[in-house]
Amino acid sequence: MLRFPEGFIWGAATSSYQIEGTATGEDKIYSIWDHFSRIPGKVANGDNGDIAIDHYNKFGDDVALMKALNLQSYRFSTSWARLYSDVPGKFNEKGLDFYKRLVDRLLENGIDPMLTIYHWDLPQALQEKGGWENRDIVNYFNEFSIYLYENLGDVVKKWITHNEPWVVTYLGYGNGEHAPGIQNFTSFLKASHHVLLSHGEAVKSFREFGPKDGEIGITLNLTQAYAENPEDPKSVDAASKFDGFMNRWFLDPLFKGQYPKDMLTAYEDYLPDVYQAGDLETINQPIDFFGFNYYTISMLKDWKKGETAPIDFEHVSTGKPVTDMGWEIDANGLYDLMLRLKKDYGDIPLYITENGAAFKDGLNSEGTVEDDNRVDYIRDHLAASHKAIQQGVNLKGYYVWSLFDNFEWAFGYDKRFGIVYVDYETLERIPKKSAHWYKETIQNNGFKMSEELLRR
Ligand code: FCB
Repeated sequence: MLRFPEGFIWGAATSSYQIEGTATGEDKIYSIWDHFSRIPGKVANGDNGDIAIDHYNKFGDDVALMKALNLQSYRFSTSWARLYSDVPGKFNEKGLDFYKRLVDRLLENGIDPMLTIYHWDLPQALQEKGGWENRDIVNYFNEFSIYLYENLGDVVKKWITHNEPWVVTYLGYGNGEHAPGIQNFTSFLKASHHVLLSHGEAVKSFREFGPKDGEIGITLNLTQAYAENPEDPKSVDAASKFDGFMNRWFLDPLFKGQYPKDMLTAYEDYLPDVYQAGDLETINQPIDFFGFNYYTISMLKDWKKGETAPIDFEHVSTGKPVTDMGWEIDANGLYDLMLRLKKDYGDIPLYITENGAAFKDGLNSEGTVEDDNRVDYIRDHLAASHKAIQQGVNLKGYYVWSLFDNFEWAFGYDKRFGIVYVDYETLERIPKKSAHWYKETIQNNGFKMSEELLRR
């Protein structure tokens, strides 16, 4: 039996745009995702989050389900577009009321809320002012955060400023696969600096306006990078640069107060004119915990200069099985990553704020979903986490992505990540085999793992 330390937190995660629905009207103005998903060709099947899984109306039943699954903590995000109003300094109280009711219901059911302030639904009105490319957004974000601290700080104790700055800024401004769909490497660097800066300011404000018994951190998406051939300097360098691009560009300013030198050199011709004295000190605020999302690894062969980007990476397949996203499954990468975080960035408490997999799930004739592949995925990643804890990694909790099938961004409803199946015709929620497995795991604070599986 692999037992986790006492007090280890078992949770599940979602985000506002992916599940809430009620996308328009007096309940909410357009976010960049409402806008982007209406541009033909941007989202698979022309899907959007207008209804999603209607969590906005069904949250009571959803919390009851969380309780039935033994969840101890629930990570959700607040939609900035739902709270935004046209009057500077004022917010839409109807939006706030929704999150208050949600949090109250969680607490009544003994579930600890973990709130992500920004999981990508920027008000379109702010995008029209330049979005994350405009430095003014740092103040807007700070005001928004203070509003949340003041109104929810008495009931929410775990706070995350941003979810995945790399995705927000590279997919949003660099390659344009995500809203707002801009394709410019310098815009990516500009936006990434402002996201990091807004994090630092929001952490500073938390110390002043946030709950004194609360904690705040940030969530990055981290991908462990490996050289295809550790003897080949080209592939070693490519792996190190890829790590710089995905991971260190964000980790180093947050934890060391500096951008990585090798990447500053690599990005030389693309650097924007946004770096001001004092910015890095602001970004480098002490945080109470560090959250990261882990899905896969990357194997690198080489890199060259691109035409519109400083680096064009050559990835190679490891030959490992992949999920429905095409992401290679490698739980050892998670173990390596955690040990590396400890070595390079210190002993800060860690949360895995997302981990999980998309597979082609379907209901069988008995009306159940036998997602053994997802059970294996979660179990193996938890085993890797357990091993890391034994090596002294300060891992405090695990949040499976995701509680429900939901709107998977540019992939629309095609990709199912949930441990709970959603029938998109009826919006019925049906716990998959993985949900039952997870429930039992929480109950036992661990799970059985055969010797053979452990050796893998
Ligand atoms: C992460 C996001 C989350 C979801 C998963 C699959 O990048 O934070 O919203 O899309 O990937």
